[in-house]
Amino acid sequence: MKFFVDTADVGEIRELAEAGLLDGVTTNPSLIMKAGRSIHDVVAEICAIVEGPVSAEVAALDFDGMLAEGRKLAEIAENVAIKVPLTWNGLKACRVLTGEGHMVNVTLCFTANQALLAARAGATFVSPFIGRLDDIGLDGMQLIEEIRTIFDNYAHLETEILAASIRSPNHVKLAALAGADVATVPPAVIRGLVDHPLTEKGLEIFLNDWKKTGQTIL
Ligand code: E4P
Repeated sequence: MKFFVDTADVGEIRELAEAGLLDGVTTNPSLIMKAGRSIHDVVAEICAIVEGPVSAEVAALDFDGMLAEGRKLAEIAENVAIKVPLTWNGLKACRVLTGEGHMVNVTLCFTANQALLAARAGATFVSPFIGRLDDIGLDGMQLIEEIRTIFDNYAHLETEILAASIRSPNHVKLAALAGADVATVPPAVIRGLVDHPLTEKGLEIFLNDWKKTGQTIL
């Protein structure tokens, strides 16, 4: 499973990219608001750091507006993936923009049928939102499983399942088990994946014993 980071914080992105842990980045209007910078500047900076797809979301709701904004965002860098919402206009824009050779991420997916439509529209990625389904008492992970089954039933559907709205390390594990192609994960959750109390405790024991040997390796 590939790892994208879900943030518009360039400092965080730089650190994770240096660790060789990033296959891409997703942003959304809320994350751009938090970054407090122009979408053009921040996406350009991210695209210069990360080689993989960097999602930048349109704000228009009408078809022509989505096309115009999508094309403008795609001018920023070759690795921009244009993010459009899962609406009729978003699906129509997805079809046109992918036809022009752009990567498109269809976002705000909450059902398997929506994902099927995004795949039929030629999306590069479809983003099912796990955490937001869990928030309303549904099972976000079940959605990933359903989409995986449907896409596997039809080999011509090449759209990647991008598990989004990930809130915990457990979500990451379950998304991988369910066969998501990509998980987009907030920086704090990515860092949390490495933590385990037994790893820390084991390291402490080993280092104490090592000191007692009086040896050095170099
Ligand atoms: C996906 O691309 C979205 O940016 C994101 O995962 C939204 O997650 P949230 O529900 O934590 O805001």
